[in-house]
Amino acid sequence: MKEPPRDPFPDSTVALAWEGYRFASNRLRRFGTDAFSCRLMMKKAVCIGGPAAAALFYDSGSVERKDVAPGRIEKTLLGQGGIHGLDGLAHRHRKEMYLELMGPQSLSSFTPILVRTWREAAASWQPGTRLNLFSEAQTVLFRTMCEWAGIPLGPRETQQRAADAAAMVDAFGGIAWRNWKGRFARRRSERWMHGIVSATRDRTSAPSPTSALARIANFRDVDGNLLPAEVTAVELLNVIRPALAIPYFLDLAALKLSEISEMRDQVASNDEMLDCFVQELRRFCPFTPFLGARSRREIAWQGFRIPSDTLVVLDVYGIHRDERVWQNAAAFAPLRFQGVGDYRFSLLQQGGGDHLSGHRCAGEWFTIEALKFFSRELARMPYAVIPASSSFSLTRIPSRLIPPVALRLG
Ligand code: HEM
Repeated sequence: MKEPPRDPFPDSTVALAWEGYRFASNRLRRFGTDAFSCRLMMKKAVCIGGPAAAALFYDSGSVERKDVAPGRIEKTLLGQGGIHGLDGLAHRHRKEMYLELMGPQSLSSFTPILVRTWREAAASWQPGTRLNLFSEAQTVLFRTMCEWAGIPLGPRETQQRAADAAAMVDAFGGIAWRNWKGRFARRRSERWMHGIVSATRDRTSAPSPTSALARIANFRDVDGNLLPAEVTAVELLNVIRPALAIPYFLDLAALKLSEISEMRDQVASNDEMLDCFVQELRRFCPFTPFLGARSRREIAWQGFRIPSDTLVVLDVYGIHRDERVWQNAAAFAPLRFQGVGDYRFSLLQQGGGDHLSGHRCAGEWFTIEALKFFSRELARMPYAVIPASSSFSLTRIPSRLIPPVALRLG
């Protein structure tokens, strides 16, 4: 077994912050391999990409998640003690609860709230209105998730709570103020959830027993214990906050639908085309840059040695742009998803592999449903995008279109 080629920097964290989404693929291309080693945040790391990388990354016999997330991500995006850092039986037991709450069977309770909340917001729009789709959709999704989960939300607190949830999502790759804003937002949001959990547990409020709030507040771990209130707050935020990632995909949807009129007509009326369009949004949009795990043991992969206790970084962005995985990868081409395909190890925006035994996103069904709803609404709405052309920043994580776009309603 060979050692993977090594990035020459003593520590590559600054290079990652500088190069953003292309950090790993730049080096993999330069070395001509699917693995290279480096140090990130002073820890030894091996970055992997290419067609076979996700299968290794989602092999729970080879890698684990405990204590992998860096502090700056736990203090903004993820919180501490939640499902993201669990392994084995403890993870599976908690994930079962999430999948019961948010699996495909739950769309019938989620979709009507989303549709009503969006229609309420749209009622005030007039021809000529300049619509900030991104922030409008974030507020709609936040209200939808709170109502769906049974979280009480007064009209006067909606804007601030929604802004906090948005700030947590926007902070995960941010430095300086963007990261601090996310930390403050998480502290406030966890305190808010903590109060709601305490009121549920001491029965001063009585949410529906089937709601996410009641299920999570009363959830018992594998040893039969209630989760500590702080962890319960993190888990409750895990059913609300991630939905605010969905608008990052909507500016691209609006842009593509306005650029290609045949696509707009097909997305408006053809269900198969709508499915393909949404899958291509999930592949093409730079949102998740990398995912991290730690090797449980020494691994032999593609002739390379990955030592035990090494950070294993999966190059999600690079795999979505890899010609060996996706033909003509740089083009936005929804029809590539026509017909049956197995994308468990190639479409990784929300993780890959298996939902129950691995860390694949529990909110994938809600996300796809919401993207379908918004895309069809956009396809049926008269609007122009201003400015008409814009492109993704690949150094800002999570990426946004630069310059930012708005819609001028027709
Ligand atoms: C996990 C992305 C929407 C709940 C994840 C992971 C990613 C992700 C990358 C981690 C995968 C891994 O570690 O292997 C996204 C994106 C979304 C989205 C890009 C929207 C565009 C949602 C929604 C919910 C949700 C709407 C809840 C309603 C979760 C949960 C996990 C998770 C609970 C943890 C799963 C586990 O550790 O087993 N998501 N997500 N996500 N997501 Fe999402």
